[in-house]
Amino acid sequence: MSNPSPQSRKRVLSGMRPTGKLHLGNYMGALANWVRLQHEYECYFFIADWHALTTDYADTSQLPDNIRDVVLDWLAAGLDPEKCTLFIQSQVHEHSELHLLLSMITPLGWLERVPTYKEQIENLAGKDLATYGFLGYPLLQSADILLYQPDFVPVGQDQVAHVELTREIARRFNQFYKRPDGSEILPEPQVLLTPSPKLPGTDGRKMSKSYGNTILLSDPEPEIRKKLKPMVTDPARVRRTDPGDPDVCPVFDLHKVFSGAETQARVREGCTTAGIGCIECKTWLADAVVSELAPMQERRARFAEGNLVKDILNEGCKHATARARQTMTEVRAAVHLPPEVCE
Ligand code: TRP
Ligand code: SF4
Repeated sequence: MSNPSPQSRKRVLSGMRPTGKLHLGNYMGALANWVRLQHEYECYFFIADWHALTTDYADTSQLPDNIRDVVLDWLAAGLDPEKCTLFIQSQVHEHSELHLLLSMITPLGWLERVPTYKEQIENLAGKDLATYGFLGYPLLQSADILLYQPDFVPVGQDQVAHVELTREIARRFNQFYKRPDGSEILPEPQVLLTPSPKLPGTDGRKMSKSYGNTILLSDPEPEIRKKLKPMVTDPARVRRTDPGDPDVCPVFDLHKVFSGAETQARVREGCTTAGIGCIECKTWLADAVVSELAPMQERRARFAEGNLVKDILNEGCKHATARARQTMTEVRAAVHLPPEVCE
């Protein structure tokens, strides 16, 4: 299915919170997949800035920089504004409109039972998350999704429960409200589970901003080398003369993702025979990561010039708004709300 006509292409929607500069884990976990999807599907990708406010409402001063950094990383990674629609959630007012409408039909118990709700409240114990907005987080996500009537929602395992809730909300909506011909307005979208390879950070734990063990897509070469040098290795390989086991080494996990088969074979041979040292092994890894990121960083620098990001987001907003309004016109009619009359 190469280059299907726009009309026949299935629709994909996904979002990301504006967490600031993205790291290799974000890239391998979601972004690289989005870049592939844009060639086959009609794609809508947005910055979930309202979602950021559900947990980070106290100090919002970093929001503009964080949004810009994420968009720049998207463009750097290869999302092409000619191929997909990139926009900011809060600029398309229909997200908040549909969220409010869906809140009318959502039983509280459904939200309280979402597994991420209690988990996150415990994980982020320093923040007061006993708020209305935080409880509504997954419902806002349902509105984000249903607004575009997508076929697929590419997400990681951690978001599957939210798409499941979205499907339940769609079913409930469709029971109450229908088109004049009786057909359903909000189809149930399917999860497109993102395959993500194991990607450890420099301390051997999962790469994550909150662990401070990340390598950023925008890290310059010296920074990448500096971060990789002290990376955790096979703990049994204490001395240079001890042979190591790549299969228990986080450095090798990164080789599997970024190095070619040849380098991986050289590492395996050299490590298990104590023929190479870990410093050398990490140099090879740094070479591979640097060459993977170099073209991205060039693109990032190009897109950072002038008003490019703003122009891309403005275009994206217009396109997304037009699509969202199609849905809302039908939704409002089915709910017997008066039609919109103002621009
Ligand atoms: N909750 C998602 C996350 O934390 C981000 C998100 C918001 C999203 N709205 C969405 C993802 C709609 C997919 C579809 O990653
Ligand atoms: Fe890990 Fe490489 Fe050291 Fe082997 S040589 S333990 S794979 S860092």
